[in-house]
Amino acid sequence: MINKVKEHIKDLDALSIQKMEDLEAFRLKYIGKKGIIPALFGDFKNVAKEERKEMGILLNDLKNAVQNKITEVREKMEGLEVDSAAYIDLFMPVNAEAGSRHPLSLVRNEIIEIFSRIGFNVAEGPEIEDDWHNFTALNFPEEHPARDMQDTFFIEKNPDIALRTHTSSTQVRVMENQKPPIRSIFPGRVFRNEAISARAHCIFHQVEGLYIDKNVSFADLKQTLMYFAKEMFGEETGIRLRPSYFPFTEPSAEMDISCHICGGKGCNICKYTGWVEILGCGMVDPNVLKSSGIDAEEFTGFAFGMGIERITMLKYQIKDLRLFFENDLKFLKQFENAI
Ligand code: PHE
Repeated sequence: MINKVKEHIKDLDALSIQKMEDLEAFRLKYIGKKGIIPALFGDFKNVAKEERKEMGILLNDLKNAVQNKITEVREKMEGLEVDSAAYIDLFMPVNAEAGSRHPLSLVRNEIIEIFSRIGFNVAEGPEIEDDWHNFTALNFPEEHPARDMQDTFFIEKNPDIALRTHTSSTQVRVMENQKPPIRSIFPGRVFRNEAISARAHCIFHQVEGLYIDKNVSFADLKQTLMYFAKEMFGEETGIRLRPSYFPFTEPSAEMDISCHICGGKGCNICKYTGWVEILGCGMVDPNVLKSSGIDAEEFTGFAFGMGIERITMLKYQIKDLRLFFENDLKFLKQFENAI
């Protein structure tokens, strides 16, 4: 009997178990109710007195060996199972390359932030617009060239629908839906049928501003824009307003800022004039107020619109507008720590 037990112990060493079912069969074979070990313990009473001590030790060894085998195989299998089911090591060091904001988003957010400090909130309008909001309500004459197929992406089946050519369409939507006072900016994407070059693209971004209240004057417009220019480009920045024309504002102006590259002395960015144009603006034309359901006798207001690409190019001295749309990481990574 002693030899039988020793053989069992030897067998155990050589045994290799690969599957869960085999492990269970093994367990039943050795320590199940009718298994080998209970049977051996049952036979213990028949062991001769002088062999009992050795037999007792061996039986316990066998029992322990079986237990150890079961634990060892189970741990191995559980380990394997975890491995095969996409195991994620949360403590593994990673090469953490965080993404960063696109320069146009950075500048848009900065513009929003600057205007929010003087009480402007943010509204948005649709990119697919109808003729009324993009042109007619904004006082565009029927024969205005901007309505021409060359500038505007119309929907073939319905010439009343187009991709908006400017964020001024949102002015109309806001005035139709809100009573003055209105003090809002409208950032968004706009579309024009233009050949793509270093200075033009068929998709670009604008921020529109609108302020409607009683007694709003051109002086308010000028002060607001001067504040913006200094916040955006630095305290030393000067502004200049040149008379211009937009169908939806009267009077209209274009605003230049003193060239922050050469400080006004003249360089190739400002084409040696000392000034660079950054936006269009003016007093909202009474016809636009009327079209949008606002009493033009009681209220006046100003509007302005600027291109985010243009502001970004000036701020970061970017020479080619196409860079904004190419998703070249070498370009984008330079703005990781910007602002
Ligand atoms: N919508 C004009 C443009 O796209 C800009 C503008 C907005 C001008 C508001 C005056 C007032 O060029």
